[in-house]
Amino acid sequence: MKNLIPFAFLLMVFQISAQNSAPYANTTLIHLKSVSPALEASLNNLEATFLSCREHQSSSDIIVSETALNWLSINNIVFETIVSDLKEKIDNDNAAMELLRSQRDGEEWYEIYRTYDEVQDKLVEIANSSSIATLIDLGDSYENRAINGLKFSTGGTNKPAVFFNGCQHAREWVTVMATTYFADQLAQEYATDNFTQTLLDIVDVYIVPIVNPDGYVYTHTTDRYWRKNRQPNANSSCVGTDLNRNWDADWNGGESTSTSECSDVYVGTSPFSATEANVLKNYMEAVPNLVGHLDIHSYSALVLGPWGYTNAESPDHDEIVSLGNAMNDAITNTNNYPFTFGVGDANGALYLASGTMPDWSYDELGALGYTFELRPNSSSGGGFELPESQILDACAENFNGAMEMIIWAAGIQGGCMDATACNYDVNSTVDDGSCTELDECGDCGGNGPNPGYDCDGNCVTGETLTIQLEDSYGDGWNGNNIIINGSSLTIVSGSSSTEVLCYDSNSCISVTCDGGNWQEEVSWSILSSDGIELLSGGAPFIGEFGNCSAEISGCIDPLASNYNNLATIDDSSCEYSSATDVQIINLPLGWYIFSSFIQPDSPSIDSLVNSIVDATVIIKDAQGLAYLPEWEFNAIGDANVGDAYLIKLLSNQNLSISGTKIIPEEFVINLSEGWSLLGYLRDSPANLVEMLTDINEQIIIVKTFDGSAYLPDWDFNGIGEMTPGQGYQIKLNAVANFSYPSN
Ligand code: ARG
Ligand code: ZN
Repeated sequence: MKNLIPFAFLLMVFQISAQNSAPYANTTLIHLKSVSPALEASLNNLEATFLSCREHQSSSDIIVSETALNWLSINNIVFETIVSDLKEKIDNDNAAMELLRSQRDGEEWYEIYRTYDEVQDKLVEIANSSSIATLIDLGDSYENRAINGLKFSTGGTNKPAVFFNGCQHAREWVTVMATTYFADQLAQEYATDNFTQTLLDIVDVYIVPIVNPDGYVYTHTTDRYWRKNRQPNANSSCVGTDLNRNWDADWNGGESTSTSECSDVYVGTSPFSATEANVLKNYMEAVPNLVGHLDIHSYSALVLGPWGYTNAESPDHDEIVSLGNAMNDAITNTNNYPFTFGVGDANGALYLASGTMPDWSYDELGALGYTFELRPNSSSGGGFELPESQILDACAENFNGAMEMIIWAAGIQGGCMDATACNYDVNSTVDDGSCTELDECGDCGGNGPNPGYDCDGNCVTGETLTIQLEDSYGDGWNGNNIIINGSSLTIVSGSSSTEVLCYDSNSCISVTCDGGNWQEEVSWSILSSDGIELLSGGAPFIGEFGNCSAEISGCIDPLASNYNNLATIDDSSCEYSSATDVQIINLPLGWYIFSSFIQPDSPSIDSLVNSIVDATVIIKDAQGLAYLPEWEFNAIGDANVGDAYLIKLLSNQNLSISGTKIIPEEFVINLSEGWSLLGYLRDSPANLVEMLTDINEQIIIVKTFDGSAYLPDWDFNGIGEMTPGQGYQIKLNAVANFSYPSN
């Protein structure tokens, strides 16, 4: 048995408040790499809860009782212990987690898991800020909570409609984030993006993030692993029906179902005996022209098409496979996190299931009904507790996958419509902004040959690298890949592999290693042809070696208006304009909050950060609007004097901002009640308390990007001085106006 180092994992697993650990007394969370039907049956007899949706044949994450654990040991069955004493761990972490949650007030919305109430507020906010989104109330849960969602429609009748929902299963928290994000993003893109406008002019979209509110609340208050709804069962002390077994499509058909009230896959007393399934059914039946439905679950990294209750091919098989593959590819290509598409049991990737919601949408409404199982693909990736740092990645993947269903429903063909582009698509009816050019090797959208190679793949430099790959467990790299110089290497099975690659020692070679599970087992080293180790590491990894400080000529004077922060050799091209003031801001890798004392000549956020755009992942304003360079998407528009912005960078950067220096005492800053991002308008550091003395009464807290705080109620100034270039999160109990003192 191997011991994982579960510390970081556990922190993420139990980030929940007031969690009741009682149900987990004397249990252990383990992982089995393969489970025969006989072994599964034995474990079920000995009290075992299977967690993943991708289990049985391949591998399983299982909560087991002491008896089951002993039985496994006696029978010499190899397993990995992920959490040895689940209850103890939950108890230990509870206090720490409570504290953490109370300190998380300033987080961005999609960076932490949100409660039922927070999601309701968000839905209202989206409806209020979008011209085409309306709040919909589908009905009440068993415990009388509203099942709310959003309808996106530009009006008109007889349009095709698609329906998306998350959280039939209470513990699948990331589905709540991903569906809310989907609605949020759709609203924002409708306001800015032509292609999305075209789609929403054709299709009506319904999004319901939490269809099992009682269960969801229960996972926050009482039992983090609760799956069913919270409806009591007559003649049993066990509560709840599995909503995704309660639909009238092969209901109680015996595929992964149970008639025991205590089972996690209890079917209920009849189809739609569960309040929430019935509410959803009535609503969906009344939606005219429903052509597509997507039921979003976690975890397993799968896209599943109908039917789920049989491996027989449905009459619409070809179309189902085509849309399924399109969604699967869109998800996988988002962050190269591999998903698998299948119908039925997806070739054994999971089990068949009777009485599920998407099969009902397909059989009864004629809509193509799919299931997504979002990240991660196993418990080693966090299981139902996907690390919060990955929420946004999961949201982006779900968004791209779900958009494919809207595109399909719109019956349009998105593509490049410029006949001179190499990827011109004659069949496309709407330009989706994907047009691109040939590279020097004649590849459409390519980046030319990898350093060292010519366009035919020959090694022109004659220089080679030896790459040694190791897996300490001996079962291959479990989906991880090392990408060196554009070539991807992995160990498919076994404990080691050696590869040789061509390279050019005069160039800078980038190296990444990521993409799979069991990353602590992964190690590698890269040797030059004379045996010198150039780089070594594990997974995840991002780095480079070789001639990475290659000279780039340009203007190297930060005070010039055309300063190029990548340039290393001055080519005497610097231009100066006498009227221009310049501020250089040192931005660290990762998240930071920046502001400037300059009124920039070109205030739009994209031109402001143009010189560091390659290192910029995202910039956000206080409203959460974003600039995403990779998508050339700027929802922020212009930077405002006095405001600050959140920025996430891949490396340290110097940002040069030129324009006109602000006269701080002449500029009035208006702050609203609640949270804002405050800029610093003076050109030298000064004590924060003195700077903000005029609004001290209104201040609840001021925070820096790295968590230092000023708390007036406690007379505590952990920040010290305000610094030019930095920005501050500030929370006020009322609106306030002030000006900084003069420089
Ligand atoms: N994992 C989900 C559940 O157990 C979805 C199952 C859908 N199954 C399928 N073969 N399509 O409810
Ligand atoms: Zn589920």
